[in-house]
Amino acid sequence: MDLRSGRLKGKMEKEVADFTSSLGFDVRIFQADIRCNQAHTTMLMEQEIIPLEIGKKILKALKELEKEGIEALKLDSAVEDIHMAVENYVTSKIGPDAGFMHTAKSRNDQVATDLKIALKEEINSIKKDLLLFIQIIIQMAEKYVDTVMVGYTHLQHAQPTTFAHHLLSHAQALKRDYERIHDSYNRMDFCPLGSAALTTTSFPINRERTAELLGFKGPMENSIDGVSSRDFIAETVFALTMLGTTLSKISEELIIWSSYEFQMVELGDEFSSTSSIMPQKKNPDVAEIVRAKTALLNGELVTILTIIKSLPQSYNRDLQEVTPHLWKATDTLHSTLNITREMLASAEFNGVRGEELARANFSAATELADLMVREGKLPFRTAHQIVGRAVSIALDKGMRAEDMDAQFLDEISQEISGNPLKIDEKIVNKALDPVEIIKSRKVVGGPAPDIVKDSIKDLKKFVDESISS
Ligand code: ARG
Repeated sequence: MDLRSGRLKGKMEKEVADFTSSLGFDVRIFQADIRCNQAHTTMLMEQEIIPLEIGKKILKALKELEKEGIEALKLDSAVEDIHMAVENYVTSKIGPDAGFMHTAKSRNDQVATDLKIALKEEINSIKKDLLLFIQIIIQMAEKYVDTVMVGYTHLQHAQPTTFAHHLLSHAQALKRDYERIHDSYNRMDFCPLGSAALTTTSFPINRERTAELLGFKGPMENSIDGVSSRDFIAETVFALTMLGTTLSKISEELIIWSSYEFQMVELGDEFSSTSSIMPQKKNPDVAEIVRAKTALLNGELVTILTIIKSLPQSYNRDLQEVTPHLWKATDTLHSTLNITREMLASAEFNGVRGEELARANFSAATELADLMVREGKLPFRTAHQIVGRAVSIALDKGMRAEDMDAQFLDEISQEISGNPLKIDEKIVNKALDPVEIIKSRKVVGGPAPDIVKDSIKDLKKFVDESISS
């Protein structure tokens, strides 16, 4: 049946049909469209809106299409979209009775429903792969609970921590990314079908039933909203882009840490490239591509938001242009997620180098100031000043943190506060030792091995519960 022949006189030029057709990316909603038609037809039969015999014929044809696959469809831009292609297929099988399938249904509610069905599946698959990522970090963290490194602020040595503590910071970000994706799934889990073009229908359809048949929590509350809104796409793509940002940050660190200057990490060769001219090179190309892919995600998000930002309410064809950006975003994120996970799993952390850097550049300074507060009963500001001066003098003299002793600190304290500190040498030494510093940070969220083990336990519980939910 030619959709245009009633109202319109002329045919669309091929160039215009190609320009306006969504068939190229409708491939992604082919299965969902069949399911949508099946549920709708079933409901129409149950509600006695269409004759049972015709409904059965429609369902039989749809089953056949399911088996034959998308190749059975005539995908010519003249048919406009997947909904018409499917309807044409059913018509080719059972004749004009196929037209009953479209009773009380519009392509407007259908496309919104199809997109949600397909996106929900995609989200479930991404969620699974994201949990695998968190599991990989847990395994790595277990291995590196006692592995010392220096933590950075402003990319300058700050305070000692462990590689496990650092890794788990990424795991917590990934956990929130997971929860955000999960939330957007739950918010989108209401079915637009039955909204029809925009104001439902006078046929006594049962929207709860189609929602149930299609695995939604229920129907969407307002039919105009049902066909107008794509915030479920924008929200999901934001959640994916945020996840991409976490992956990009992890990659950025691997790039820096695998440099000769840092030598903290060795990436697997299978995630590295070499140079066509410089034979010595081992380049972190995969991590660099991850970093760039996140820019693509940012672009998809902004494109989607920009398309929907000023549309008048209800269906506008502009919405069609959102769809390819959704799939580009899910595809980009999904491959980036899996590659980043395997790349991280291939990384070996250099514990010797980690500890060397942690001891090299006064990362114990905060603990030393804390010691003066605790043992010397000084206000923190005074202690901060004494240690700052001590570091400055030590740097001038070419001393390392471990070369500072009680006497050295006493002299500076005398000069700044008018009194020596008189802190026991042993206690000073302890405050300067990264391993001791880490052990003493037993506050919730801190790097002390026991605390990190607790947080690994909590994270494992989260993963287990998420897998079984
Ligand atoms: N191909 C369209 C889309 O992706 C389906 C809905 C078309 N509706 C319409 N009234 N032309 O949005």
